[in-house]
Amino acid sequence: MNFDVERLLREEVKDLPVYSPGKSPEEVAGELGISDCVKMASNENPLGPSPLALEAAREALSHAHLYPDARCLRLREALSGRLGVGVDRILVTHGADEAFDLLAYAFLDRGDRVVVGDPTFSSYELAARTMGAEVVKVPLREYRQDVRAMLEAVDGRTKMMVLCSPLNPTGTTVSAAELEEALSGLPREALLVLDEAYLEYVDDPGHPDSLRYLSSDPRIVVTRTFSKIYGLAGLRVGYVLCSPPVREALERVKLPFNVNRLAQAAAEAALRDEEHLERSREMNRRGKRELYRVLEECGFGYVPTQANFILVRNGNHPDLFAELLRRGIIVRDGAALGIPGHVRITIGDEEQNRRLEAALREISGGG
Ligand SMILES: Cc1ncc(COP(=O)(O)O)c(C=O)c1O
Repeated sequence: MNFDVERLLREEVKDLPVYSPGKSPEEVAGELGISDCVKMASNENPLGPSPLALEAAREALSHAHLYPDARCLRLREALSGRLGVGVDRILVTHGADEAFDLLAYAFLDRGDRVVVGDPTFSSYELAARTMGAEVVKVPLREYRQDVRAMLEAVDGRTKMMVLCSPLNPTGTTVSAAELEEALSGLPREALLVLDEAYLEYVDDPGHPDSLRYLSSDPRIVVTRTFSKIYGLAGLRVGYVLCSPPVREALERVKLPFNVNRLAQAAAEAALRDEEHLERSREMNRRGKRELYRVLEECGFGYVPTQANFILVRNGNHPDLFAELLRRGIIVRDGAALGIPGHVRITIGDEEQNRRLEAALREISGGG
């Protein structure tokens, strides 16, 4: 039968790329025959999930025959108690990724404009393009989002500007002054989406407290996740903090049972495990110090980070990604992230960091 799927496809979908998650240890084992790879590529928590979260997920599994709570009320109440934000301003999502889809479904039409940094996390663009919106990518300035230049790209058709802080893939942040500039420069009927997937790793005491703006400006939409410091990437749970009308709009387009029972239970328990959170933060701080030292000793330049990954300049080693891969270390190639000449390395646990150190010393010829 002559079947041409291209003739069925929506125009917007025809040239959409498939999201590329980077290599898995299994793929590398198959391709290079290396069986003991370490993956320092997806900014996951090397400590794993909190034991309390695991226990809650196990318990929830015995109710797997029942639909989960479509409103995620318990988790929203737990978040509300912790953050001091009303439950009417919280929407729980299937990972933060779902939030970008919901924002696009609810607000973007063909011809609308979305302004993002370049590079930035790719999901914003994919979601916007799926709806036919135009995505204007504004180059970073010294590895930071150039808020002023982003505002210059805002026009009458702009429905959204997205800031990511800390920014994936550079680990830099936006300042309070920049956030305020963005809010005052945006049109009244546009949203400022602030992706804070890595917020819990931030050490800089001057990092803006986005929650302060939530009650005074209905245009701000904050997205967060349990995939990073909470170590629950495999369960897919994130949340949005926004004004009640925006939350209601997003609710209209979400799947009824978007967050499964295990994810809801685990996330709620993870929020209670302060000790695990602090251990994760401390492990990252220690790893960051160690890796800065190793990178400096080996002569690699890097961007100081506020997250759990470091953007490293390839320097004299244009094939740094491949050279690390050959040594069983999976990182993200900057070329795939829109920043050629770099690799993005997730800060690991002690053992992973030591493997990375040995490989970097070998590649750089000492240090
Ligand atoms: C900046 C940023 N935002 C959002 C996400 C998506 O997180 P989730 O796993 O919650 O969908 C990621 C994942 O890597 C990210 O780096």
